[in-house]
Amino acid sequence: MNETINTINSLYTTHGNFSTQDVKEEDMQTILKTCVRAANASARQSYSIVVIRDRERIRQLCGYTGSKALLFCVDYNRIMDVSNHLGHDYKASGIADFITGSTDTILAAQTAAICARSLGIDSLFTNGIQRGDINRIYDLVQLPEKGCFPLIMLVLGYADKEPTYLKGRYRGKGLIHDEQYQRCTERDLQNLIAEYDDPSKKMGMIQDWEKHGFTHYLDWFFEKWIGKGERPEKSQMLSLLERSGFLDW
Ligand SMILES: Cc1cc2nc3c(=O)[nH]c(=O)nc-3n(C[C@H](O)[C@H](O)[C@H](O)COP(=O)(O)O)c2cc1C
Repeated sequence: MNETINTINSLYTTHGNFSTQDVKEEDMQTILKTCVRAANASARQSYSIVVIRDRERIRQLCGYTGSKALLFCVDYNRIMDVSNHLGHDYKASGIADFITGSTDTILAAQTAAICARSLGIDSLFTNGIQRGDINRIYDLVQLPEKGCFPLIMLVLGYADKEPTYLKGRYRGKGLIHDEQYQRCTERDLQNLIAEYDDPSKKMGMIQDWEKHGFTHYLDWFFEKWIGKGERPEKSQMLSLLERSGFLDW
């Protein structure tokens, strides 16, 4: 294994238990310069990154806190502004631009997480920015309403303790397909369920689902974690996407 593969294989999430140790500005600059190396459609980098250095502001934005945070937004404003400046009339809108912009954004975000790990910096991806009133994100960091959507936040810092294990990953049937897509058979599904139940694989979000009265981890997952209730943010998300122009055709 080379160093890059070792770094990727050692990625893990710090679930908010960051210590008071700060990430150095020099390391932040390295992460920022490096993450934008990610591939991006039409070489236009349809995203913006807002750097947050204040712990309380990080908490207000995503509900967690850490030393620093990077807010990754799908964003076409810089590109539209330069187009207008040159007298062109490029306008990004519609779901295709949103999907392409989201892809650019997430590639840069994951590259930042890998870069951070390689520097010994712990991280947390959170969609906490989309919990509660999503408009607070637009207000707190002054995002433009049109052509911009806050997609994911990466909190950076140093965990107060190392994780005791790395979470496993499913790599079996239904995930990796050979040449042609194949739906899982009943047997594949049973194997998948058993894999999540195998304590040595540490696949799920919790390890003690039996104590909660569930036969399988995935029973806990579907009944307790995903739940049956509608999240109120869903309708707000839709109206913000409408406002952004990303739902225009
Ligand atoms: C879109 C997204 C949102 C996430 N949101 C949260 C979150 O709000 N809180 C949290 O503790 N972890 C969050 N995570 C981290 C996942 O829980 C974590 O990646 C997963 O459990 C696998 O664990 P690992 O990264 O340690 O391998 C999020 C990850 C992603 C990709």
